[in-house]
Amino acid sequence: MIIGAGGHAKVCYEIAKLLNCWRNIIFLDDCLENNYFHIQGPISNYKYFLESDFFVAIGSNEIRKKFITILEESGASLIKLVHPQSIVSDSVSIGAGSVVMGGVVINACSKIGRGCIINTGCTIDHDCNIKDFVHISPGTNVSGSVQIGCLSWLGTGTTVINNIEISEKVIIGAGSVILKNIKDQGTYVGHPCKKIK
Ligand SMILES: CC(C)(COP(=O)(O)OP(=O)(O)OC[C@H]1O[C@@H](n2cnc3c(N)ncnc32)[C@H](O)[C@@H]1OP(=O)(O)O)[C@@H](O)C(=O)NCCC(=O)NCCS
Repeated sequence: MIIGAGGHAKVCYEIAKLLNCWRNIIFLDDCLENNYFHIQGPISNYKYFLESDFFVAIGSNEIRKKFITILEESGASLIKLVHPQSIVSDSVSIGAGSVVMGGVVINACSKIGRGCIINTGCTIDHDCNIKDFVHISPGTNVSGSVQIGCLSWLGTGTTVINNIEISEKVIIGAGSVILKNIKDQGTYVGHPCKKIK
């Protein structure tokens, strides 16, 4: 069962197909009109499929957290999706409900939390700690020993130098360069990255 059927779900679906582990892949979404996927029903129908494996393919960190939490509390089995053309060290741990997309590299001893999106072509170097429900957008480079707090979102092509700590619920604009710790929630952009909201 895939929850969500937008653009992010298209990419997750293709990874699930490549992994070849499931006989049928069925979509639930509250928008039943979809010109790409057949939608089986609204998301609330998840309760009729609790024997299935679930993946929540929703880009918004908060909404993905909401549905993953509901599924966990219902005892559903949440899978992770790791693209076969990604390079992930054996010493990396990846939480349930996370996706690692094509072309990603995750190096030694990094930890990826639950419900994370490690998007196309990112690199996450050694000893990083990426907490739950984080989204690392395409082409972002996270250097070694970086910690990123829950629900944070790094926009496309962000660069983070080593040994940085980013707190929870931080938004980083596309193309930003992070050279210092970010302690407060908010939106940060630019090179060097500065708070705008
Ligand atoms: C950072 C971001 C979230 C801000 O969006 P927003 O809250 O709607 O902010 P606005 O577009 O109103 O921009 C506010 C100001 O910040 C500037 N700004 C916005 N994003 C910026 C960026 N990435 N780099 C530099 N400046 C940026 C705008 O030019 C504007 O400046 P101004 O007030 O001088 O005109 C958004 O611009 C962004 O970069 N999103 C990332 C998208 C992405 O990577 N998606 C990947 C999906 S997989």
